[in-house]
Amino acid sequence: MNNLINKLPKAELHMHVEGSLEPELMFKLAKRNGIELPYTSVDELKAKYDFNNLQEFLDIYYQGCDVLRTEQDFYDLAWAYLEKAKQDNIVHTEIFFDPQSHTDRGIPFETAINGLYRAFDDGQQKLGISFHIIACFLRHLPEQDAIDLYPDILKHQDKILGIGLDSSEIGHPPEKYERVFAQARTDGFKLVAHAGEEGPAEYVKQAIDLLQVDRIDHGNRCLDDDILTAQIAKAGLALTVCPLSNLKLKVVPSLKDHPIKSMLKKGLLATINSDDPAYFGGYINDNFQQLADAVGLNDNEIIVLIENSFKASFLPQSIIDIHLETLNSI
Ligand code: HPA
Ligand code: ZN
Repeated sequence: MNNLINKLPKAELHMHVEGSLEPELMFKLAKRNGIELPYTSVDELKAKYDFNNLQEFLDIYYQGCDVLRTEQDFYDLAWAYLEKAKQDNIVHTEIFFDPQSHTDRGIPFETAINGLYRAFDDGQQKLGISFHIIACFLRHLPEQDAIDLYPDILKHQDKILGIGLDSSEIGHPPEKYERVFAQARTDGFKLVAHAGEEGPAEYVKQAIDLLQVDRIDHGNRCLDDDILTAQIAKAGLALTVCPLSNLKLKVVPSLKDHPIKSMLKKGLLATINSDDPAYFGGYINDNFQQLADAVGLNDNEIIVLIENSFKASFLPQSIIDIHLETLNSI
């Protein structure tokens, strides 16, 4: 591992906590909750982690969520991620969770948020990792489902900083969520949306113009539109890029073809993130390392990407400045 990648403190801004459910923990929670998994072993499960597109991954990902039943399950899930985050020298993380993937199975919203919050709060105390939680709407469901869920999110605004949009992108453009995002903005939530992962540049444009997002998750396809790319760069709107996810979901044919250098050259505030590390074969440092090896990132580019992770975070500017000074002093 490149020493710099290991050594530098960093922020992670795009990580679905349900996507950090390692197969071993999935089996452990299934046993604890008396659930029979449709796989007989970890190896049989891992053999399914061979995806041709986003939907093939999502089908397995939602199935995996079924083992999460109790507050302790959510705690254990988040704690396992935090231990990996500590190893990778993450000092701040902004994590996603998908409330509807739990409430639709009859798991109360409180069970998920209380377990996650307690773990991240402990992580802050014991591991020194600060955090924000972002609740995502599943875009393949009707907007009305998001509107119905929203009061639960609002009730827990003391624990939830932002609202996001994820799941199956094509056929579910950001405009579908304009009303509920407008309400969330009025209520003071930060806003993000997955856009331009599989969907076209037009979806990135809609996320910016109609949802008025503060950050774009993935955003790769904005590169198809030069004018839009220049606007995003000028506005300093960040992209949370996920290299191993892009590889595993065939957003890029190989890591060598990953557009990260072109993103940086065009002045985009790009960051590196793990997305669903248990499913895509690596946590944040693996994403940095494999990308650096494939496209030949130099030390300066690695430093810029790590600086960007703080600049693009939702931390107060005074705290961002402290992190940047620390980076400067290493
Ligand atoms: N894209 C869209 N939805 C998701 C993803 C992703 O990469 N991971 C979990 N939900
Ligand atoms: Zn994602």
